[in-house]
Amino acid sequence: MNHLVAPSMLSADFLNLAKDIEMVNKSEADWFHLDVMDGVFVPNISFGFPIIEKIRKIANKPLDIHLMIVDPDRYLERFIKSGAFLLSVHYEACIHLHRTIHAIHDLGAKAGVVLNPHTSVNLLENIIKDVDLVLIMSVNPGFGGQKFIERTYTKISRLKKLILDNESQAMIEVDGGVDLVNASGLLKSGVDVLVAGNTVFSSPNPSETIRLLKNI
Ligand code: DX5
Ligand code: ZN
Repeated sequence: MNHLVAPSMLSADFLNLAKDIEMVNKSEADWFHLDVMDGVFVPNISFGFPIIEKIRKIANKPLDIHLMIVDPDRYLERFIKSGAFLLSVHYEACIHLHRTIHAIHDLGAKAGVVLNPHTSVNLLENIIKDVDLVLIMSVNPGFGGQKFIERTYTKISRLKKLILDNESQAMIEVDGGVDLVNASGLLKSGVDVLVAGNTVFSSPNPSETIRLLKNI
């Protein structure tokens, strides 16, 4: 499978959000990556339903929503009604992860699980066949523009093996500090979806940067 690129809108210009959405619409990007932060699970607050519903109105690509919130079960239905095609919850935030993943499916969306940098992929052994995607954090979640954690390559290789050993269909997404230098190694390790915020939106030509990420 050719890999996908999901620009993280956290790094977009919120005073000109429509312009950045149009740029992504016209680019070679595959998904919009939307980071929802509650100020409790992570030390930052981003945006919620009103913004997502507005983005959905003009976005012409699927919304990949990354929930960095405690007790995500309370809001699954609203996020899916707001337009999530893929809804990803943190392993560390879900006491009954199996139930949460199946609730997302029952509500009609794809379901992903996210691992913080310290969380072992081995913990996914009993859920890997149930999820559509595993999102590996390559920074500690909460902020864009952080430094990529090098151990991520090993983690992704191990996750790929776990997926193959269990005959799971799960895709692998990586998020945090992804750039034009580390992207090729990540893809070789087994990544299917590259998330990139700062690399895209801080570049002089974001659409061209998306094209470069897509054509690695
Ligand atoms: C971090 C978010 C990321 C972030 C990525 O908590 O999950 O999606 O926006 O930004 P960059 O690519 O700048 O590290
Ligand atoms: Zn994210």
